[in-house]
Amino acid sequence: MQDFITRAVPTGVYVVTVRKGDIINGMTAAWVTQVSFKPPLIAVAVAPPRFTHDLIKDSGYFCINTIPEDGKKIAKHFGFKSGRKTDKFKGYTYTNALKGSPVLEQACAYIECELQSTCEAGDHTLFIGSIVDHALLKEDTDPLIFKWNDFYGKKG
Ligand SMILES: Cc1cc2nc3c(=O)[nH]c(=O)nc-3n(C[C@H](O)[C@H](O)[C@H](O)COP(=O)(O)O)c2cc1C
Repeated sequence: MQDFITRAVPTGVYVVTVRKGDIINGMTAAWVTQVSFKPPLIAVAVAPPRFTHDLIKDSGYFCINTIPEDGKKIAKHFGFKSGRKTDKFKGYTYTNALKGSPVLEQACAYIECELQSTCEAGDHTLFIGSIVDHALLKEDTDPLIFKWNDFYGKKG
């Protein structure tokens, strides 16, 4: 079923970053989309057990880093371990967006959002934010499209 949904509703692959004071973290997310035109609002679905979940709730901000086509390794790095136990930014270069969320050097674009509302959606929370900072960092780079088998299948 999951492979089917991913094919039927294609998405990109993102690293959602967050800063709460001195704590920074990032996690890979495929469930990211625009949900309003005026004003432009961005939603990300984050499961409550993720370390990132409460950091977004507490800080009120999150940043979507768009991963480039050749960035599967980055997506695996941020998507298969928790920031509770590891500093996932070790060895990664980043700058800070306006409100302090990390922006990965490898990101082809980023959108930093201020949390506007949250909504329970099954086993995930939808965080919906308005845009406070954004930039296109690599104009000629295509984004990575999420394919279930690239991460969870036999070829994983
Ligand atoms: C390709 C990929 C896509 C993912 N998409 C999501 C997602 O949309 N929402 C989510 O809650 N977790 C998603 N995950 C799982 C989290 O990235 C993973 O649980 C991560 O270790 C959480 O890190 P944290 O505990 O530091 O927040 C995805 C993982 C991968 C590899």
